[in-house]
Amino acid sequence: MQYRKLGRTGLKVSEISLGTMAFGRWIDEKASAGVLDQAIESGINFIDTADVYGRGMDLGDPTLTGESETILGNLLQGRRHDIILATKVKAPVGRGVNDAGLSRYHIYRALENSLRRLRTDYIDLYQVHGFDPNTPLEETLGALDDLVKQGKIRYIGCSNFAAWQLAKANGISAQYLLNRFESVQPEFSLISREIEQELVPYAQSDQVGVIVYSPLGRGILTGKYQQEEKPETGSRLAAGEKRLMQLLEKHPSHELITHIRPLAEARGWSVAQFSLAWVLSHSYISSAILGASKPKHIQDALQFAGERLSAEELAKIDEISRNIGILR
Ligand SMILES: NC(=O)c1ccc[n+]([C@@H]2O[C@H](COP(=O)([O-])OP(=O)(O)OC[C@H]3O[C@@H](n4cnc5c(N)ncnc54)[C@H](OP(=O)(O)O)[C@@H]3O)[C@@H](O)[C@H]2O)c1
Repeated sequence: MQYRKLGRTGLKVSEISLGTMAFGRWIDEKASAGVLDQAIESGINFIDTADVYGRGMDLGDPTLTGESETILGNLLQGRRHDIILATKVKAPVGRGVNDAGLSRYHIYRALENSLRRLRTDYIDLYQVHGFDPNTPLEETLGALDDLVKQGKIRYIGCSNFAAWQLAKANGISAQYLLNRFESVQPEFSLISREIEQELVPYAQSDQVGVIVYSPLGRGILTGKYQQEEKPETGSRLAAGEKRLMQLLEKHPSHELITHIRPLAEARGWSVAQFSLAWVLSHSYISSAILGASKPKHIQDALQFAGERLSAEELAKIDEISRNIGILR
């Protein structure tokens, strides 16, 4: 496993990290334990969750959230300090008017609940899960800064921010001498390349760490949906994950995979291994958050870890992506 710096900070995170959105949502605690043990054994030191992750995300019920944090809290007992633990706040976690968003009120309450579920007294990276147009950035950043000073969180980051939102936030932090967002967590994969336009150039210019989610396009970039006839039990296709269904319906990913497969096979790799290597071949990425519902998913991802694609392969992929309309 190789480790990279999180933006300008001194923190080093494994270049492949573990996302735990499946814990308690598609897989139970026993299956989650197998995945987590494999991740830690493989050298993954960075684990991502969110207060909202749980069954309620598929059921549309904000009261059924927090299972991922609860399971992680149970499983991390005795090894919490070996892990860089990241969670998030903003999505609805109840039906009340103040049970969502980035107000000082909600952030304080949400953090206490995350700490309780995770059975820890600090979060290494506390991320806002998206931009909240209803709360002044000054209020959000002031609350987060206070929590850093109280020792409850070590670093702050954001997710799903546009470049202008992140630049504005970091400008406010600089103006008021507050802790700033040291990382941003957007989606990035062979089928989702929007961040290359604005967010990445900004992050590079201000040394903000880029931690990317869904590097395998929620499983699409394993190529398995082209081949599988019946979804496996415990898979997100079987659970009917809304975003996955949308992507499978109208995205040109099948065409992309048809072109990627021979490139992967030329290296003796799977489509998933090639897709992950493509993400990690971008040096501005601090870590790619892999989703896994089985230990084998992590073993597969780690098999060729550290290998980078050549300039010719990267150029070929750009050409293919332009031809099928994924890249402008
Ligand atoms: N900030 C945000 O808004 C946001 C949004 C989404 C995700 N995230 C974070 O990013 C993490 C990863 O997201 P993701 O799960 O969408 O990532 P992903 O890595 O693109 O997809 C993971 C899925 O791919 C399949 N897979 C992985 N390796 C495989 C293999 N070797 N063979 C066959 N199938 C394989 C599995 O699907 P099956 O389980 O169905 O087999 C797995 O659940 C989440 O857990 C979460 O922490 C953040």
